[in-house]
Amino acid sequence: MGSAGIRGALPALSMSNAPGKIILLGEHAVVYGRPALAIPLPDLQASAHAEPAKAGAGVSIEALDTEQHFSMRDMPQEPLAVAARLTIEHLAIVEPDVTLHISSQIPIASGLGSGAAVATALVRALAAFAGRVIAPDELSPIIFEVEKLFHGTPSGIDNTVVVYGLPVYFKQGSSQQPIVEVFQSGAALHFLVADTGIASSTKTTVSDVRAAWQHEPLAYEALFDDIGNVVERARSAIERGDVNTLGLLMNRNQDLLRRLDVSSTQIETLIAAGLAAGAQGIKLSGGGRGGNVIALVDAHNTTTIGAALLSAGATNVITTALYPTPS
Ligand code: PMV
Repeated sequence: MGSAGIRGALPALSMSNAPGKIILLGEHAVVYGRPALAIPLPDLQASAHAEPAKAGAGVSIEALDTEQHFSMRDMPQEPLAVAARLTIEHLAIVEPDVTLHISSQIPIASGLGSGAAVATALVRALAAFAGRVIAPDELSPIIFEVEKLFHGTPSGIDNTVVVYGLPVYFKQGSSQQPIVEVFQSGAALHFLVADTGIASSTKTTVSDVRAAWQHEPLAYEALFDDIGNVVERARSAIERGDVNTLGLLMNRNQDLLRRLDVSSTQIETLIAAGLAAGAQGIKLSGGGRGGNVIALVDAHNTTTIGAALLSAGATNVITTALYPTPS
C-alpha cells in the first residue's frame, strides 16, 4: 500500500481518562478554608475519545451513559460545553470539528468526583485531538470553573485530586491559589466505600450549610475549626501509619458532620453496621445526606465488613487502599 495508504489514514483516536476520587476527611469545612484530605479512586475511571467530525460541525459532545448528545454552539451553558470552550480559549485554537464521546464508571451524584472526572477526561481528549497536552496546573483551574456549574461554591478539592490523580491535603489559599500537598501513608490503609444508593446534590447540602453558617456564624466557625483540627491530626496519623488513631478521628469527623446536619438515616444505618462488624472508623464522604460512606478496615476484615454493609442496605461496596510509597 505504501505511502498513499499512510497519507489517507484517519488521525489516531485520542483516548483520555481521569479517576474518581473520595474525600477521606474535612468535607464542608474545606469550603470555609479548613483543610481536607482526599484520595483518587483509580479503579473508577471516566474516559473520553475524540472522533473527527465533518468540516464546520464544531465541537459536539456525546455522553454514552446519560444518552446526551449536543453541540457546544447549541447548548453553550452545559457544563461540558463550558469545559470545551474554556479549553479552546486556553489553548488559543480555532474550534475544531470533533465529536467527544464520553463514558464513565463513576456513579453520578454520589460524592465520587464524577463531574470533575468526566470534564477532565473530556478536556484531555479535546487537547490531545488538537495535538496539545494540558499540564495539571493549567487543567485544574478549568475544571474548577466547571465544578462551579455543578456545585455552586466548590472548594476546589475535587478538581485537584481528579486532575493530579494523587492523595492530597488541600486547603484554599488566601488568594486564588490553593495549598495542595501530596501526602503519603506510613502503613497500608484499607478502605471500603459503600453507596447508600441515594443520589444527593452536593450543591444543595453546600448551600444548606452556607445558610446555617450565615444564621449562626460563630457556632459554625467553631465546628469548622474542630473539623480542621481533626484533619490535621488525621494527616499526621496517616503519615505515622497509626491506623487506630485515624479510625477514631474518622468517627470524630462524622460526629461533627452530624452537627452540620448533613448525615441521614441511610448513612447512619451503614455506619452502625460497619462499626458493629469491626470497622476502625467510618463516616460519610462528600456532600452527605446520601452518596457514600467510607470505612477504614483491617485487610483481613474486608469481606466481613463489606457483607455487613451490603446487608444493611448498601447498593454497592468497593475497596480501595493507600500504600506507603517505597523509598
Ligand atoms: O460530594 P463531593 O464528593 O463532590 O464533595 C463535596 C465536598 C464538599 O466539601 C461538601 C464541597 C466542596 O466543594 O468541597
